[in-house]
Amino acid sequence: MAKLKQELIIDQQGPIGILTLNRPEALNALSHPLMDQMEEALKNFEADAAIRVVVIAGSERAFAAGADISEMQGKTSAEMRADLHLSRWDKVSNFLKPTIAAISGYALGGGCELALACDLRVASETAVFGQPEISIGVIPGAGGTVRLARLLGRALALEMVLTGRRISAHEALNLGMVNRVVPVELFLDEAIKLAHQIAAMPPLAVAAAKKSVLSALSPDYPSYPAALQLERELFYSLFDTEDQKEGMRAFIEKRKPNFKGK
Ligand code: CAA
Repeated sequence: MAKLKQELIIDQQGPIGILTLNRPEALNALSHPLMDQMEEALKNFEADAAIRVVVIAGSERAFAAGADISEMQGKTSAEMRADLHLSRWDKVSNFLKPTIAAISGYALGGGCELALACDLRVASETAVFGQPEISIGVIPGAGGTVRLARLLGRALALEMVLTGRRISAHEALNLGMVNRVVPVELFLDEAIKLAHQIAAMPPLAVAAAKKSVLSALSPDYPSYPAALQLERELFYSLFDTEDQKEGMRAFIEKRKPNFKGK
């Protein structure tokens, strides 16, 4: 049953947790209350074994047009530094279960960064990505320069953050920024469909797969051989799970597996 909170709608469809940004009057600008609610909702979803995948969605017009400029404009460096607001984006990127951003319309500034903090991205044909912070006297502060540099390389990342150049949905698809582009009326359904596909997989293997891919991308990870070693260790560890036995037995018996998350 949908639970209406102030700026975030928290919902569940079977094993899928759905967080819908709900500030249409400000194009879903990511205010303190909204991101506080998101942090709390993610904490609850993480603790809830029934939730396997989380979808974060905006509206058709805007995924999110950035952090809330009206909250920030009068602040000093010291005040901004003391404020934990930007750490909320890390809660999304560090979330242990798979996350999918369902993006339509504007994904700008902190909105683009929120989409990039998710694991997968489903975009509507109207989605537009950009980091316009330079035009209001700042730079991205929630991971934009770092994630775009890693994802798109030096030239395009710099063009985006130095000029505010926007990227359309189809360009984003060609660049590997999004997993798929669908007609606007389908963006949420498609994201939920993708979430159900992942949720049908054995959860311990899903967690291991995410951990291995994120470790491979992490700047903290010591080396390529160490990342390969972690992958192998995770692979071996799954042989102590019931789902590995069930998955391989079901393959041999030519039937659908019945995974238990053990
Ligand atoms: N913060 C606060 N309010 C915002 C907002 C934001 N980021 N983006 C839009 N709004 C508000 C507008 O002020 C406006 O409110 P009012 O009706 O009360 O005037 C309402 O949303 C609708 O916006 P517009 O009238 O501007 O709509 P538009 O269709 O003409 O333009 C837009 C849409 C191009 C997205 C434009 O709103 C815009 O440029 N928004 C700001 C984008 C931006 O600079 N984002 C970066 C923010 S800083 C950041 O995110 C830092 C970080 O890295 C974390």
